[in-house]
Amino acid sequence: MKITIINGPNLNLLGTRETDIYGSQNFESYLDSLKSLYNEVEIDYFQSNVEGEIINFIQKSKDSNGIILNAAAYTHTSVGIADAVKSIDCKVIEVHISNTFSREEFRHNSYLSPVVDGIIIGFGLNSYRLAIDSIIKDE
Ligand code: DQA
Repeated sequence: MKITIINGPNLNLLGTRETDIYGSQNFESYLDSLKSLYNEVEIDYFQSNVEGEIINFIQKSKDSNGIILNAAAYTHTSVGIADAVKSIDCKVIEVHISNTFSREEFRHNSYLSPVVDGIIIGFGLNSYRLAIDSIIKDE
């Protein structure tokens, strides 16, 4: 089984960025713990601060068993990423580390939520683990 995690802008700074909101663990070390927890799953990881690169990677990952997508700020702005999700058959789970609904109003809208298969929001980095569980249990 292959699961693809795609992280959007500024998520490369996890661990040092707004730690009161996103915590102090960097994504690489969290990813290592996910890989050892799910050693039977191939976990592919991509992060970019560039919208078009995220779109390219979504298209490239269409044969995964599932994509876990945290498009970060692009969640609230990107018709292009929403169209990319719509254009593939692969299951896509939208995740957010923070509870976007308890934050500024502009974070309450997601262009992705209407086109993904499921949404996991506000469980810290564990949002990614819950998304993996949801893909595995569905297979
Ligand atoms: C985020 C929430 C977004 O509103 C924000 O722009 C991010 C991270 C989250 O995981 O909580 O960069 O997607």
